Formats: sequence, structure tokens, C-alpha cells
Amino acid sequence: MEKKDLDWSSLGFGYVKTDKRFVANYKDGKWDEGVLTDDDKVVISECAGVLQYAQTCFEGLKAYTTEDGRTVCFRPDLNAARMHDSAKRLEMPPFPEDKFIEAVKAVVKANEAYVPPYGSGATLYIRPYMFGSSPVIGVKPADEYQFRIFTTPVGPYFKGGAKPITITVSDFDRAAPHGTGDIKAGLNYAMSLHAIVTAHANGFAENMYLDAATRTKVEETGGANFIFVTKDGTVVTPKSDSILPSITRRSIMYVAENILGMKVEHREVYFDEIKDFAECGLCGTAAVISPVGKIVYKDGEIAFPAGMEDMGPVTKKLYETLTGIQMGRLEAPEGWICEIK
Ligand code: PLP
Ligand code: COI
Repeated sequence: MEKKDLDWSSLGFGYVKTDKRFVANYKDGKWDEGVLTDDDKVVISECAGVLQYAQTCFEGLKAYTTEDGRTVCFRPDLNAARMHDSAKRLEMPPFPEDKFIEAVKAVVKANEAYVPPYGSGATLYIRPYMFGSSPVIGVKPADEYQFRIFTTPVGPYFKGGAKPITITVSDFDRAAPHGTGDIKAGLNYAMSLHAIVTAHANGFAENMYLDAATRTKVEETGGANFIFVTKDGTVVTPKSDSILPSITRRSIMYVAENILGMKVEHREVYFDEIKDFAECGLCGTAAVISPVGKIVYKDGEIAFPAGMEDMGPVTKKLYETLTGIQMGRLEAPEGWICEIK
């Protein structure tokens, strides 16, 4: 199969329309089989549940070309399970998890010409999402839903790729206790837009959100979980009921403990502790592992010892191991790699 003639290595994290997308509809209490289509337009009622009351959730995963030329994706079963949880919380009918994986495979296969070549630094981002499509005017769940998956080739989420970024601490909260911070609901991102526009206007790449109840504990950023490294090399990730359970973060913790033999801790992290950490990074499908060089906040700033030029040594090791597994250079734990045939 011949690849598209794109300038892969200069892609940013943007939308490029690809040839095929998957569409399934839920009506009369059941999902249909779904189809692959050329049609990138969505036609729904002006009063659709998604438009009035933001009844929508989504997922994000990637397809990679491995060193030996296979097309693979990374742990799609976990995206299927998380989307199931998101749908349940938003009173939407979950899309069956086995069909989710089949649809991911079908849509990647149909767009294989857009899966960036090995070594280009780009990947094919896969965006499954669903929304209430039938009219709703009283506040209640819709009766009908659409589930779709499109793909788009992407480069690094943050300009400069693996270069450390500077972030700030948001004055706004991301998620309330007992709210929707632990699911991938569109509404979580809508309310982060003002905060990210403000951060960008002030010269910062991202926002660190603190816990809404006490504003003393680290939660996550608008689109990634945190990883910290202590001076004696322990990998620490924040634990909270109001952050998204990142698949990348869970994979990194496993890799650190079971492949690299490191000590890992998943626990509450107080903002006051950050100044004592040796390294800081953001992790997620889009972010991969992006090093944080500096955190600027109202009363000062924290500059991590690795500086603003390179990733710290532990972050680098984690990055190389994770991406090595994703690109087929290193052996993957059982069940992590899903080959597209
Ligand atoms: N946190 C938020 C708010 C996100 O949007 C994402 C992206 O998916 C993540 C964390 C990272 O999750 P994952 O590693 O599953 O992509
Ligand atoms: C992802 O990493 O897949 C996300 O959904 C994060 C988003 C900010 C692009």
C-alpha cells in the first residue's frame, strides 16, 4: 500500500481529513452494525442532545508504523473500556467494547495510507466519539445516538516536540469532587478553553490544575496526567478521583516497575512537594511524554534541575521504553499491541 504524499515530519497536532470514517447509530434501543463512509459531515437535529446539553464523550489513541513495517495500535481495549465508563456516566448507551476494537481496526485499515512511516516522528491519531443526536429540550438524555471514529495524521502536541515546556497553575478548576473529571466528557474540555487561552496568552504551554476542594493537591493538565521523579529516582503520579485515568500513565507505571525495575508511587501529590522533585513530565496519547522544565505560579516558580534544553534522564528512559514498545523496537507486555491486518 502506497503512503500519501504528506510532509510527515512537519505535521503539528492538527486535523487532516482522511479517506474513511466509521459511523454507527443507536435507535429504538439498539446499535446498528455501522459502516465505513467517505462522508465527513454530521447531520443532526438543531435540538440534538449534544448541541443543547453537551451529551458527548470521546477517546483518543494512535496507530503507529513499527520498525519492521507493521501497522499497530496501542491498548485499544482500554480505550473501549474507558469510553464505556464515560457513556454510562453521561446516561448514553455504551458502544459494545468488542465492536469498538473492530471499528478502530477497520477505520485504521481503511486509512492505512495516512499512517505515518516509521521514523517520521508522526502517528495516526484515532478519535472515537459519540453524542446524543435526537431532539431534547427538557433536561434529559437523548433517545438516539451516533458513534463515530475518524483519523488524522499528527505530529507532536507541543511545538518543539521533546523540548521542555513551561506551564502555569490555573486560577480555574478543571473538575469538581464527585464530578466528571474521571471520564472523557466533552464538557470537561469546553470549560478548560478559557483557562488554556489565558495560559497561552501569558506565554505558557499548559495549565496545571489543582484539586478544586482544597487547592493544595496536583491533579492534571487540560489534556494529560503528570509524572514526577524524586531525587532518588522514584516515579510518582498523582492519585485523585477527579482526574482522567490515563492509559499512557498506567502503561508508564507498569513499564517503570516491571521492565525498568524502578520504584513507583501512585498517591496524592501536594503542590508544596513539587519543588523537591528532580523531574516533571506530562503524559498522554497526544502528549506522549512531554518534559516540563518550569512551573510558574502566583508566588514564584519552580525550575526542575534538568533545565529547558533536554528531558531529564529518568523521563528520557521512560520515553524511550514506552515509544520503543509502541513502535515495535522493544518487546511489549502481553496484549498491549494490536496489529492491524
Ligand atoms: N488527562 C486528560 C484530561 C486527557 O484529555 C488525556 C488524553 O487522553 C489524558 C489525561 C491522557 O490519557 P491517555 O493516556 O489515556 O491518552
Ligand atoms: C489525547 O491525548 O488523546 C487527548 O484526548 C488529549 C487532547 C488534549 C488532545
